[in-house]
Amino acid sequence: MPGSDPNDLSLLGAAPSFAAVLDHVSRAAPLDRPVLVIGERGTGKELIAARLHYLSKRWDRPLVKLNCAALAESLLETELFGHEAGSFTGATRRHLGRFEIANEGTLFLDELATASLRIQEKILRVIEYGEFERVGGRETIRTNVRIIAATNLDLPGEAAAGRFREDLLDRLAFDVITLPPLRARRDDILPLAEHFATKMSQELKRDLFAGFTASARQKLLAHAWPGNVRELRNVIERAVYRHEDLDEAIDEIQFNPFESPWRPQSKAATAPSGASATATAAGQVPTLPMDFRQAIEDTEVAWLQAAMQHARFNQRKAAESLSLTYHQLRGYLRKYRLVGGDDED
Ligand SMILES: Nc1ncnc2c1ncn2[C@@H]1O[C@H](COP(=O)(O)OP(=O)(O)OP(=O)(O)O)[C@@H](O)[C@H]1O
Ligand SMILES: [Mg+2]
Repeated sequence: MPGSDPNDLSLLGAAPSFAAVLDHVSRAAPLDRPVLVIGERGTGKELIAARLHYLSKRWDRPLVKLNCAALAESLLETELFGHEAGSFTGATRRHLGRFEIANEGTLFLDELATASLRIQEKILRVIEYGEFERVGGRETIRTNVRIIAATNLDLPGEAAAGRFREDLLDRLAFDVITLPPLRARRDDILPLAEHFATKMSQELKRDLFAGFTASARQKLLAHAWPGNVRELRNVIERAVYRHEDLDEAIDEIQFNPFESPWRPQSKAATAPSGASATATAAGQVPTLPMDFRQAIEDTEVAWLQAAMQHARFNQRKAAESLSLTYHQLRGYLRKYRLVGGDDED
C-alpha cells in the first residue's frame, strides 16, 4: 500500500462526483461479483479496491494483490496460478499462486490490461468455473475468489482493438466503477491538501500547522493535477517539510521538484516545433475561452513526441521518461496514431 502509513485506508472527498463513487462502492461491495475499477493514475484505485474488500462478506479473508504490469508473462502466470516442483528449471518446490492464496477472499489484479491474451483467457476460466491447474500440474484446484481488477486504459477500446478479450471484459464489467480525476473534483483539493499537510506536520513532530496563504490556495486550485491525489500528496508533503517559519502560513508551493535554473537541458524539456504553441505546461492558467479537449490532446501529443525524440524512438525508454508503463505508452501512441503498423509489440 502506498503512502507513509500503510494502514491508512481512509478515502477523503466530498465532491459530488466522488461521493457518487463511494455510494457505488457501498452498493457493489456486498455482491459476490467481479468489479472493474477504472481511473487515471493516482486517483485512488487501490484504495477503492481495499474498500470493496473490507465492505464485503469476505472482509475477514485475505485481500491479495498482484500488479500485472510488473511481471513478465511467464512469471505473471506462475504468480497467478502457481507451479509444481520441477515444472521448469529452477522450480525446486511447489509454489502457490495468488488464486489459491486468495481462496475465499478477494484478488486485486492491478493493471490487468497489460496481461497477455493467453493469461486473460486463463483468468476468465477461473472466474467462470472456479478451477485451474498449477503450471506443470495436472491436479485441478478449486478456488473461490472474488476478482477486483483495475486499469487506467479504456478497456472497450482495448477490446475493440483486439488487445483485450471481449469475453473477459463482459465478465468483469458486471460492475464498473470509474474514478473522477482530481481536476473534476476541485472542491476536494483544499480539504485533501489540509489533510496531507496535517499528517505531514505530525510526522515531523510539529505541533502546529498554520495553514496555507490565499495565494498558495489559489495555486493549488489552478493546477491541473495530472498525477491526481498522489501528486497532490507529494506536493503538499514537500511544501510542509520545506517550510521553516512554523508560525506563518505556507506560501511556497513547488509543483515541479526538478525546477532549477541549473537544470540540465534536455530535448524533452523543449517542445518539438509545430506542437510548441499548444504544449501548455500543467498548472499554467490558459487564455479563455479555449477548446479544452483539443488543448489537452495537443499537449499529450507534444509531450509524447518530445519523449519519443528524447529516447531516440526507443518506446521503453520513452515510457520510462514519462512514468508510464510500456503498454500505457503504446496505448497513447496508437490513440494518436504516432506509430506505424510494423512496430515491435
Ligand atoms: N480519496 C483519497 N483520500 C485520501 N488519499 C487518497 C485518495 N485517493 C488517493 N489517495 C492517495 O493517493 C495515492 C494514490 O492512490 P492509489 O495508489 O490508490 O492510486 P491508483 O489509482 O491505484 O494509482 P496508479 O494508477 O498510479 O496505481 C495514495 O497515497 C493514496 O493514499
Ligand atoms: Mg494503483
